[in-house]
Amino acid sequence: MAKPLVILSHPMPEAWLAPLKEAVRLVVGPPDVAGVDVGLQPYFAEAEGLLTWLIDPVDEALLAQMPRLKVVSNLAVGVDNIDLEACTRRGVAVGHTPGVLTEAVADMTFALLLAVARGVFPAADDARAGRWGLWRPDAWLGAELHGATLGIWGLGQIGQAVARRAHAFGMRILYTGRTPKPEAERAWGAARVPWEALLAESDFLSLHVPLTPQTRGMVGEAALRRMKPTAYLVNMARGPVVQTEALVRALQEGWIAGAALDVTDPEPLPPEHPLYRLPNCLITPHIGSATHTTRRRMAEVAVANLLAGLRGEALLYRANP
Ligand code: GLV
Repeated sequence: MAKPLVILSHPMPEAWLAPLKEAVRLVVGPPDVAGVDVGLQPYFAEAEGLLTWLIDPVDEALLAQMPRLKVVSNLAVGVDNIDLEACTRRGVAVGHTPGVLTEAVADMTFALLLAVARGVFPAADDARAGRWGLWRPDAWLGAELHGATLGIWGLGQIGQAVARRAHAFGMRILYTGRTPKPEAERAWGAARVPWEALLAESDFLSLHVPLTPQTRGMVGEAALRRMKPTAYLVNMARGPVVQTEALVRALQEGWIAGAALDVTDPEPLPPEHPLYRLPNCLITPHIGSATHTTRRRMAEVAVANLLAGLRGEALLYRANP
């Protein structure tokens, strides 16, 4: 019997794909075009599996061209690029990669928190550019994490890993989320508060929610104006949770003190974007889970999900009912 045909939306390191190569026929899309490339269309009718990245929309129109598709395996924990309902209607299982990336993303959250609080990059730029005069007590002063209030929006696995770190840093922890997390409350003294209180009381507000119709654009002008003028925003979730234009104004006009964004809207953020010109804004190119170990584990889970879906077995992590 012919091996099933699987489409990889983009090339991936050979070593990550070893278990897949024996079991399936692979067709691979281009490295530099977001989405499942139309050039792969001749293979759509036959494809039984699809491995996607978070930059690849999977919608009804694409699914309609893949009548034999059994599984979409997304190399990400977030699945906002995939129309889950359309997949469910068509009996297509959707896999994703939670768990394995939790600690790497929480580490990166703290990298950004510390960097933006202490002005690490502007200070390093000053040193490199020869603006390091005599040491003085009142230069390059930043904010302290110890004793500050960290607001976490979304206390899922990643939010909890951030809370665990924050507790060790001596921070007071508030959170807003759909469900109470009594274990987090016991372990790290986290207190569940309404959204408005989270905005008003946080010295650092860290976003860890999925992008859904409910979270899209929630951090807009009203939310940003409710924050303290000394507060910092960290976005490790998805760019469109924050309204970009409102954030630019908030940073320019001092509604908040600064922001660190690992995700933006749009992505990639074009080089001429005003956010790059703001000294109180730090931007990294969506690298939350980008460690050697974690990306390899994500690939392992994505491949395992794909193979299970092709066999009609339960996925390791399934995102749709
Ligand atoms: C990254 O953003 C992911 O969803 O895994």
